[in-house]
Amino acid sequence: MNLSTSKVPYEKPLMVKHVTGMMNKFGSNPAFVPLEEIDGVRVSSLVEQYGSPLFVFSEKTISAKVRELRDALALRYPKSRVAWSYKTNYLDAICRIHHNEGSWAEVVSEFEYDKAVRNGVPENRIIFNGPYKTGEALSKAFNGGAIVNLDNFDELAEAERSAANFPEPPSVGIRLNMSTSSTPHWSRFGFNLENGQALDVVKRILAGGKLQIKGLHCHLGTFIHATEAYGEVAAKMARFANLLRNDHGITVDYLDLGGGFASENTLHSQYLPGQQATPPLSRFVEEITDGLRELDFPSDSMPTLFLETGRALVDASGYLITTVVANKRLPDGQRSIIIDAGVSSLFTSFWYKHDVVPAQPTNGLPETAVIHGPLCMNIDVMRPALVFPPVDPGHKLIFKNVGAYNVTQWMQFITYRPAVVLVSPDSEHSIIRKRENLETVVEREEMAPWLSK
Ligand SMILES: Cc1ncc(COP(=O)(O)O)c(C=O)c1O
Repeated sequence: MNLSTSKVPYEKPLMVKHVTGMMNKFGSNPAFVPLEEIDGVRVSSLVEQYGSPLFVFSEKTISAKVRELRDALALRYPKSRVAWSYKTNYLDAICRIHHNEGSWAEVVSEFEYDKAVRNGVPENRIIFNGPYKTGEALSKAFNGGAIVNLDNFDELAEAERSAANFPEPPSVGIRLNMSTSSTPHWSRFGFNLENGQALDVVKRILAGGKLQIKGLHCHLGTFIHATEAYGEVAAKMARFANLLRNDHGITVDYLDLGGGFASENTLHSQYLPGQQATPPLSRFVEEITDGLRELDFPSDSMPTLFLETGRALVDASGYLITTVVANKRLPDGQRSIIIDAGVSSLFTSFWYKHDVVPAQPTNGLPETAVIHGPLCMNIDVMRPALVFPPVDPGHKLIFKNVGAYNVTQWMQFITYRPAVVLVSPDSEHSIIRKRENLETVVEREEMAPWLSK
């Protein structure tokens, strides 16, 4: 009898519960459709050239979004302007695309102000918001003719001190906060409208005689789906503007409705996916312009309408390409996929169920997986649970809708911050922020002299 000596290696039996994309009314899971190109450029060639992880921005998508908003405004309230919210993404190249599309700059710090100036934005096209503006920053803004929206009484006193150096009273706007029937009340910024504080500050500015009131501002909140809330705010601001005009002799030049429109992302707490739940930009504009019908102004002195839309204009243009470094089976049976980018690069994973797609075709049965990063911290979870096809080390995964608040809020933590690449509408591509390295990270460090002895 020939008993073969070659042994088949022992394989431990493993029972895996497969959840193959349970029946649902939304059809098949979009995660299985690979994204192999971004605006005509192969994902694999981008990684080959620039490394992984890698942020990629689509210029075409940014321009399309700005134009969509601009066109919606032009149709219903032509005397309007979009100001690019710098904090959302202040990479020079991204700002340049917005400014080339005609957007002004909206900044909330002296650093952002200086960055806008460095980007060639004329100072009288900068809107300066935020709860902390130093005396020097206020003087700089008054000198440059920027739009300054005041946040609090202490800042008003600081602005009046700065104003003393100017022959004419500099112009200011007043930031308001107010409640609506459908949004949480952001009451920490500006002066409250309902309790009379906003009117108090108007009277206070008039009594001081050192500043002129030129406008009203309200940034309602962020990631707002409730378009009707904007209609309420616009109407309340319009009625307040009427009051200033009729009772106090102030005809405001502008009403600034801030930002806050939801992008096409999906919050962790959200049921419907962003693609279905997020209203189009035109719906927000319709509500705002309907609310502005309350304005009782002569047609030749209607105020300019400003919008400072951030995330809704840039989220969809951003992608984060990552590489799978390992697969694991966790004790509870769940599959875990480790990738080379963590929450330090993709801060918005804390808020959103980002769409994740493979960058190459996949085979095999999808199952529930957790996708996490390389940070050696339990909080480093990019997607806690999603049904995903099998992927191997070396495969690329792409996070979509990551254009807002990531390349400004990212942290250098444990690893380097990734490079950022821009793809043009003609499929040209270029680096717009280099990957960090040891030198760039330690550049600002100094050795205490007694330690170097
Ligand atoms: C004053 C102001 N304007 C505009 C924005 C942009 O908001 P979003 O990105 O939600 O449109 C912000 C963001 O917090 C803000 O504080």
